[in-house]
Amino acid sequence: MSVTSQIDLRSDTAIQPTPAMLEAIQSVQFRDDLLREDKSTNALVEMTCDVLGTADAVITPSGTMSNQIAVMALTSPGEEVILGPASHVRNLEGAGLAANAGVQIRCIPVDRGIYDTDALAAALRTSSLQVARTGLISLEATYDLNSGFVTPIDNYRDIRRLADHHEVPVFLDGARLFNSAHALGVDPAEITQHVDAVQFCLNKGLGAPLGSMLAGSKEFIEHARRLRQRLGGGMRHTGLLAAPGLIALAQWRDTIAADHLAAQRVAERLGAVPGLAVVNGPIETNIVSLSVDAAVMPVEQFIGELAGRGVHVKRIADDRVRLVTHRSATAEHLEMACDVIEQTVRPR
Ligand SMILES: Cc1ncc(COP(=O)(O)O)c(C=O)c1O
Repeated sequence: MSVTSQIDLRSDTAIQPTPAMLEAIQSVQFRDDLLREDKSTNALVEMTCDVLGTADAVITPSGTMSNQIAVMALTSPGEEVILGPASHVRNLEGAGLAANAGVQIRCIPVDRGIYDTDALAAALRTSSLQVARTGLISLEATYDLNSGFVTPIDNYRDIRRLADHHEVPVFLDGARLFNSAHALGVDPAEITQHVDAVQFCLNKGLGAPLGSMLAGSKEFIEHARRLRQRLGGGMRHTGLLAAPGLIALAQWRDTIAADHLAAQRVAERLGAVPGLAVVNGPIETNIVSLSVDAAVMPVEQFIGELAGRGVHVKRIADDRVRLVTHRSATAEHLEMACDVIEQTVRPR
């Protein structure tokens, strides 16, 4: 396989911008978002609010920055955030919750994206002087970046009810919100109506090169803009992110439907290969996790041999890898990748 046909399935962040996105970047009229004068950013804020049913939104460079801003805005130091053990905000943001927000965490069980609401009810603490007060419930869509699980609407509704009862805000790290919406067959606003604030990534499944939209009430976004300044400085010509972001958001249904079908096809093919097993099946969105039988080969060797043949997968555990489908890995690429994977584990 030639270098030009490298197939990168490590993440949907490997997605490449479309020609239309690149053209949009070239023709954008750059203005300053600190002054709220950038037209494409303002248009993206408006589109975000339409799609999510929120009052306002702000653009940031990354999902991580949006998550950190949200937790800082919605909590006070010394409070506790309730979340799922696999959540990105807990595991992969450089201990930002402790370092930036000064909060501690409490995990509750989550089974294939379904939060245990009995455990949540028991974990919510708002009265005692001796324990950390619950400042926030932080959810994730899709849940677990190595599995892509979808939280059912009823579960969001039950969480909202408990949160309201205890007057605790709910944040949704919706890095892959649109994957969840597609899998549930609902408009994204049907999910986001149950939370106080939400971020989604413009890259990943949506397929723009960079950026995240953080959305919520007017007051929350005003606060968020201050925190964005504190953490990241002056976000000036954000049209660079917003122009392709507008195209990505307008096309989300087609892009994501194709990715989910592709992931099912990959899981079907690779699940039938001796020595491999799909560990997050049935596949709900665009992420396929595979275990590799150590008797066939160690996972490092598996990854190395695939990379040598132009197929890139991500190691997620001693015996596991992750493959994520996205627009830049076409159906043909995926068939080729599956062929290479099958040949690699076939007894020699
Ligand atoms: C669930 C989830 N949240 C947040 C992020 C962070 O996004 P970024 O890489 O843009 O900081 C990711 C990244 O993969 C993610 O999977």
